[in-house]
Amino acid sequence: MALLAATPTAAVAEDGYELWLRYRSVEAPWRARYAPHATAIVTRSASPTMRAAQAELRRGIVGMLGAEPSNQLQSGAIILRSRVRIGGLGKDAYRIRSAVVSGKPLTIIAANSDIGILYGSFAFLRLLQTRQPIDRLDLSSRPKLPLRLLNHWDNLDGTIERGYAGHSLWNWAELPQIHPRLIDYARANASIGINGVVLNNVNANAQILTPAYLRKVAAIADAWRPYGIRVYLSARFSAPIEIGGLGTADPLDPRVQKWWRGKVDEIYQLIPDFGGFLVKANSEGQPGPQTYRRTHADGANMLADALAPHRGMLFWRAFVYGGSDDDRVKQAFDQFRPLDGQFRRNVVLQVKNGPLDFQPREPVHPLFGQMPRTRLAMEVQITTEYLGQSTHLAYLGTMWSEALCSAAAPDSLLAMAGVANTGNDRNWTGSHFDQASWFAFGRLGWDPTAEPRAIAEEWTRMTWGNNPRLVRPIVAMMMRSREAVVDYMTPLGLAHQMGTDHHYGPAPWVCDLPQPSWNPCYYSRADAQGIGFDRTRSGSNAVAQYTLDVARRFADLNSVPDEYLLWFHHVPWAYRMRSGRTLWDELVIRYDRGVSDVESMNRVWASLAPMIDAQRHADTAARLKQQLAEARWWRNASIAYWQSLSKLPLPAGHKPPPHTLGWYQALRFETVPGFLSPRIPPGWPCLSAQGDLPCAP
Ligand code: GCU
Repeated sequence: MALLAATPTAAVAEDGYELWLRYRSVEAPWRARYAPHATAIVTRSASPTMRAAQAELRRGIVGMLGAEPSNQLQSGAIILRSRVRIGGLGKDAYRIRSAVVSGKPLTIIAANSDIGILYGSFAFLRLLQTRQPIDRLDLSSRPKLPLRLLNHWDNLDGTIERGYAGHSLWNWAELPQIHPRLIDYARANASIGINGVVLNNVNANAQILTPAYLRKVAAIADAWRPYGIRVYLSARFSAPIEIGGLGTADPLDPRVQKWWRGKVDEIYQLIPDFGGFLVKANSEGQPGPQTYRRTHADGANMLADALAPHRGMLFWRAFVYGGSDDDRVKQAFDQFRPLDGQFRRNVVLQVKNGPLDFQPREPVHPLFGQMPRTRLAMEVQITTEYLGQSTHLAYLGTMWSEALCSAAAPDSLLAMAGVANTGNDRNWTGSHFDQASWFAFGRLGWDPTAEPRAIAEEWTRMTWGNNPRLVRPIVAMMMRSREAVVDYMTPLGLAHQMGTDHHYGPAPWVCDLPQPSWNPCYYSRADAQGIGFDRTRSGSNAVAQYTLDVARRFADLNSVPDEYLLWFHHVPWAYRMRSGRTLWDELVIRYDRGVSDVESMNRVWASLAPMIDAQRHADTAARLKQQLAEARWWRNASIAYWQSLSKLPLPAGHKPPPHTLGWYQALRFETVPGFLSPRIPPGWPCLSAQGDLPCAP
């Protein structure tokens, strides 16, 4: 084993590009323990996936141990053994164990498939990265959910809907040339078990299905195949009209069915392992089967039938409007629950974690556990549209774990889908800490019962370092971070109090938007008497959508958790909380608790400066500083507004907002990150028959 010159870690500038796959030199005592077990990498197979596994192991060993592994079967070798038919383990699973063969200590990474070997190799490296012993290994792991997908809301012009980390990673002008960054993206995903990527926005442009784009999509699929990542596309339901020249997109029209079959066959010619389609239909201006008086099942099944001969999947989103006018959060359940049992086997109904829209906190969506004859995916938003975007530190592992643990969700799931938070910013996610939610998404997709704290610790060790004086405070900060956001934005079950359109900053007073359910006042129902949305029998009765025991717990003021109080109940300002305080006092205290948590995050982060590289430390410090100013803004603006209704004094020791309500209401935010990039008008950009040149719309 040849020793390479070790690079002194402290001198290496870090910009976050390497994500959690930083293979920095380990401390000497650990090197002494690890080196004898990583002297060589041996495999008989040369498949692209096995080569990727080997390359990753080599990269990790060279980086962490400063030594070039050989390919000889020698003492300390790592043996990669694929297609070994390990009983009880599925396709993606792996087993890692230490063994002594002919007197030689070896580490064997075994799996039924090559991709299992790649996953096992990342797992092995993770042990070193997190300073675990590797001399007596016997561990195995398999994903609990078969499909673990990222959904990119990337537009074809390179903008990203709700993206806060730059432009799209897919450069359509450059493709089919593969930029090396696309391979690093695939490595990162494979390292956390993600096995599918939807490339384009659910508010889809039909042009993605034209030959010119499909050739580029095929190049991406080829590049990612070794990493076990299948490519999927968002399909616009009206594509047969827009690019097919038909006069209708009616799913029961044979011409439409034939067009989709032809389109799907064309895709599979180019991409034999194409994953399938994701569809947002009859929602927020998107076309769908209801345009033709057909049901969601009619629409989904028509596309599923076209995909079925190729074993493709059809993800159909449950994020729809319509039906119950009295309560936005009832609408998806009302429309989809009656369709249970009507979907084809290759349809997956993709349901957001909560019934509203990616709020800092929502109860779990009532469809989970109540569609026994339908395959479900839980959709979460990794990009933090409603949680301060990439400015506020909010680790989302805790949020998703909360949803996954509620209401029988994990048992009914086939897939997890995460709205990606990546872009072409150098560090991928804008904020370094937002990398953690991407990581957590993958780890929870692999195992929905995994502990968010353990995931946070793993990520911290891999991303910032293993010094316990650094790990402990960072993990504590992360574990508290989402709750802090809930506290200073929407405490006690409030929701959707954000600024119009961009969803950045407080706007609880907004009440004049044409669609009632876009208004924050619709959700708070605040008035001089009290606050909260009555979703019990005396109100919208949304509680009745839950199973009986859950419904009872939420409907009863004695048993509803404080976290969901104002989601399910309208209560007077003087309502007595479990804490003994009035609701009004409790509300103010929660806002202040959120702010003080961010103050403490700032202090903790400042104290870690000596242990963290300058660039990443400074970048995070700047964001935390802004977060603190904005947490105060949220607290002050919200309290000023609620107080204008309740007319109550603040509890002793809690300062009044420094400005009048009018001052907060007058603030304007033309430059906040969340303004929607203009949605692409249908038919643009259009391509010439040859494929690449833009033509006049
Ligand atoms: C949210 C988001 C939209 C997005 C929609 C969806 O409402 O603000 O930008 O299109 O979710 O999930 O389809």
